[in-house]
Amino acid sequence: MSHSSSKSTAVTAEAIVKKKSSGERISMVTCYDSAFGRIVEMSPIDMVLVGDSLGNVLLGYESTIPVTLADMIHHSAAVARVVKRPFLAADMPFMTYKNVDDALDNASKLMQMGGAQGVKLEGGEAICPQVEALTRSGIPVIGHLGLTPQSVHALGGYKVQAKAKDAQKKLLSDAKALQDAGAFCIVLEMIPSALAVQVTKALSIPTIGIGAGPGCDGQVLVMHDLLGFDADFNPKFLKKYADLNKVIMQALVSYDKDVKQGKFPSKEHGFSS
Ligand code: KIV
Repeated sequence: MSHSSSKSTAVTAEAIVKKKSSGERISMVTCYDSAFGRIVEMSPIDMVLVGDSLGNVLLGYESTIPVTLADMIHHSAAVARVVKRPFLAADMPFMTYKNVDDALDNASKLMQMGGAQGVKLEGGEAICPQVEALTRSGIPVIGHLGLTPQSVHALGGYKVQAKAKDAQKKLLSDAKALQDAGAFCIVLEMIPSALAVQVTKALSIPTIGIGAGPGCDGQVLVMHDLLGFDADFNPKFLKKYADLNKVIMQALVSYDKDVKQGKFPSKEHGFSS
């Protein structure tokens, strides 16, 4: 049997884990559609996450809670049509992995219909039976600890987590439990930098930070945040690598002016009979 693949240099879950032992840092970015996916595919980025942050970023929700499995499948499939080289993971949305059966059914849909190569789940020890069952079924799993946005109402807002000693102990034991259950890497969101270092040192699988300081094995950012889409979103952890808000506004103002002054379309934009 031959296993042909257009992804000859594809990044696998195994390759991601190996990067930790070889000391190579891991880059990850969110992506929600094929327009951005085509650009990410041409970039050196290692991992793409179809995050349920698409609820805030694309759909105008105030949290990730209203995001459905159908939303995730729709956007993951769009990304999967063009992203072939980076490892492609999709978030399992709110309440779609509340037990092992749901986790298996819904992860299967994200992979079969959404084209994802792996899934990300929020939570620690409590979801380890799901992580174990998914891993046993050959599904690469990414854990997510610290600020877990699907629990925003229980956590009291989008703020730094695990500042107290007992919460730090719990996060460390959750991280070890996720590793033991088979997760191949863990996102650490909005936790003290020193704790992220401690977790990173304690694990053999990579940690991917966001708001977790410079001591993780890799970093993830929301695509639209790093590109500067929202001029008013400037959290401490974010570095903007472009100011697309300004670029897009300038383009729209110029277009509007040209249309209203009769400068566009001009002769060269028309067709002859
Ligand atoms: O949904 C998302 O985009 C995420 C990342 C910020 C890690 O979970």
